[in-house]
Amino acid sequence: MNEYILRVENLQKSYDSTNSHSIFKKKKKFNAVNDISFEVNRGEIVGLIGESGCGKTTVGKIVTNLIEADSGNIIFEGKNIAKLSKKDLKSTKGKIQMIFQDPSSALNPQMKINRILKEALFSINITNKEDQENIIDKYITKVGLTKSYLSRYPHELSGGQKQRICILLALLTNPSFIVADEVVSALDLSVQAQILNLLKSLQEELNLSMLFISHNLSIVYYMSNRIIVMYMGEIVESGDCEEIYNNCKHPYTKLLLSSVLSLEDDSSIEEEPNEENNIKENNNVCVFFDRCPHKMPICSEKKPENIVINDRHTIKCHFGGEI
Ligand SMILES: Nc1ncnc2c1ncn2[C@@H]1O[C@H](COP(=O)(O)OP(=O)(O)OP(=O)(O)O)[C@@H](O)[C@H]1O
Ligand SMILES: [Mg+2]
Repeated sequence: MNEYILRVENLQKSYDSTNSHSIFKKKKKFNAVNDISFEVNRGEIVGLIGESGCGKTTVGKIVTNLIEADSGNIIFEGKNIAKLSKKDLKSTKGKIQMIFQDPSSALNPQMKINRILKEALFSINITNKEDQENIIDKYITKVGLTKSYLSRYPHELSGGQKQRICILLALLTNPSFIVADEVVSALDLSVQAQILNLLKSLQEELNLSMLFISHNLSIVYYMSNRIIVMYMGEIVESGDCEEIYNNCKHPYTKLLLSSVLSLEDDSSIEEEPNEENNIKENNNVCVFFDRCPHKMPICSEKKPENIVINDRHTIKCHFGGEI
């Protein structure tokens, strides 16, 4: 049996709906993340896919402890970090790191790269100058750059080089888990493959575990061992990469896949979910009801349970996808 490094149980996060801020109306809440559970094994890359606004970043930020969930458990390396006090959380500081979509906004434009990296080391109590330089020397080559980049300002680097520095920043704290959130979306197509390959080789070399977030199924397929498909705050299907690609069951996953196969034509999934829909989703209705081509009366009467298709393949559909 594989050992999991991270297990998320029944995660819930709601926000105030932006459409109901009038003083005459009672603020409505919508579930950005609704009863989400999954595991990531040690050394595994799990891809998290779903269209814009479905809650991927919210899940990533909760796991990294950048925002707090309303409820649920996050078991990381045997500890429930969702329930730890601030003081106890210090022991896991830096063990989970997040890399974001836009490397420009993650780097202080006023500081040279060398100073940005040294300040990051200082913040984790590595204060000795020689130690700092040794660590930076070690990692700068790992991310495919040379020391000459250290004396540059962020604006003197290309998008890909900036993202390499962001990856380096994430590695400085010696993490065992990385949340990579749309890390190539802001980059030129030609640079995307280089950054993905860098992440893959670092993951293997450092035995990192990773939650790899993207709205692009081809990229998630290339990077991941397993795929989780989200729709409007819920996991609708999950399974091994090949299984999802060749034998997906949920109508939404099929839609995602067909849009990839039709030469990246997103027309079939252009209608984005919105918060009003998410509010409705609090009722006993399947989250995909409005857009499902196979909906039946029961789909608007009862929320589907998670159906286990096999060991590693689950789906949230009343018909187990056999429609
Ligand atoms: N701080 C916040 N306050 C209110 N609503 C928020 C907040 N953060 C996110 N949301 C809303 O929660 C929902 C999920 O957002 P999230 O950023 O997790 O989606 P996403 O799947 O990462 O989307 P994208 O692919 O566009 O990055 C969206 O409707 C978003 O508008
Ligand atoms: Mg996002």
